[in-house]
Amino acid sequence: MQKDTITLTNNQTGKTYEYNILEGSRGPSVIDIRTFFADTGMFTYDPGYTSTASCESQITFIDGGKGELRYRGVAIEDLANNHSYLETCFLLLNGHLPSKEELLKLDLEIRHRAYLHRGLNSLFDAFPDNAHPMATLSAAVTALASFYNEHLDMENEEEYLEMAHRIISKIPTIAAFAYRHSLGIPFIEPDIDLSFTKNFLTMMRAYPGGKMHLCDKGHEDIKEVEVRALDTIFTLHADHEQNASTTVVRGVASTGAHPYVAIASGISALWGRAHGGANESVIAQLEYIGSVDKVEAFIEKAKDPDDAFRLMGFGHRVYKNFDPRAQILKKLQDELREELGLDSELMAIARKIEEIALSDEYFISRNLYPNIDFYTGIILTALQIPKSMFTPIFVIGRTVGWITQWIEFKKDETSKIARPRQLYTGK
Ligand code: SDX
Repeated sequence: MQKDTITLTNNQTGKTYEYNILEGSRGPSVIDIRTFFADTGMFTYDPGYTSTASCESQITFIDGGKGELRYRGVAIEDLANNHSYLETCFLLLNGHLPSKEELLKLDLEIRHRAYLHRGLNSLFDAFPDNAHPMATLSAAVTALASFYNEHLDMENEEEYLEMAHRIISKIPTIAAFAYRHSLGIPFIEPDIDLSFTKNFLTMMRAYPGGKMHLCDKGHEDIKEVEVRALDTIFTLHADHEQNASTTVVRGVASTGAHPYVAIASGISALWGRAHGGANESVIAQLEYIGSVDKVEAFIEKAKDPDDAFRLMGFGHRVYKNFDPRAQILKKLQDELREELGLDSELMAIARKIEEIALSDEYFISRNLYPNIDFYTGIILTALQIPKSMFTPIFVIGRTVGWITQWIEFKKDETSKIARPRQLYTGK
């Protein structure tokens, strides 16, 4: 692990300090500055943590320059094209892809755990109809902590994996109930005969009694192409290293609070439009721009340093050439165009934004490219999923990543409570 050392000289005092350079299996090495304050009486300063590694991890690897993303060493392209979301959940939690038997066992457990305690249903009534589903989702996940508050033995793998499977299976039910509450229509209970993703779409879209849309061809079922598209979207969102919401989850893990309130905190952090809320904002922005001929004017607004307007779905802290997830979604969008009748007007506006922004010096010089959120919204719109449910969809995909990172934190003996310091400039 230790590769070499680095010597720092304080030119004010002439004193020098030596620190170990730690090398990982891939990616940038780190300078181990854990004794820096004790040695120098000074703090390092890095708001937004642009140059800071907050932990050691073996879950997800990102190479921003190459546009590479791997879960437990498996490339995202392989997972999105050749494996299901549940296989990806097993991979993240266990470190390898499942055998057929392991996958069947996980699938059956997830189907049986999808039901909510009856007591939770009344929680939704406390919210106004127009409550954003992210508010209800975060509150309901916090409430889960009171239904499952037995002590968790982190030495007992079966116990903490059960805790993880439970939250992965219940999040789609809570998200679907939150949506149906916002419409004032009865909830559709989970159906153990349906796969994870088809079950969610059914709880979202079915009529009371579980029947799908009635048309002249009889009861129109959910199309397999829709299930596959949404399953791929879940896989692409499953984890993403130490992003803002995962940092929050690890922060709550470090205080010793219940794992489900750590997930609820991650849901709240993801809601922001700079993070997971961007997918909803992308569609709202395309609708606001309204037509292809208005795109140029909005691009100028996005470039104006005095204008707070930003191009939603563009830019990323880590990816500086392209977001591999966006590339996969762009291909999926093209494949689905006919089958799902993607919204041509919104797509035309999105294509125009892409065409202009990708050739404009402002975006090129700042390495601003479409990120995962730029394409998700158009596909979800075609799946008849309303904008308000885009970030809850992100939550469904990311819950496995958050809970895997939570487990890794809790099993790391060197973990400490998160407690950064500050540069004080007050009175
Ligand atoms: C996700 O971290 C993750 O992994 C997140 C995520 C995950 O899977 O968990 O990948 C999911 O959150 C994707 C990002 C979704 N957010 C958006 O699409 C919102 C729009 N994007 C921006 O808010 C921004 O690009 C961020 C937040 C994504 C990244 O911000 P950074 O890395 O802190 O970059 P910055 O704010 O320092 O900007 C650098 C420059 C600035 O200009 P200058 O001051 O140099 O003149 O680029 C400009 C910014 O003004 N800029 C933009 C812009 N994004 C950055 N200008 C116009 N439009 C934009 N979208």
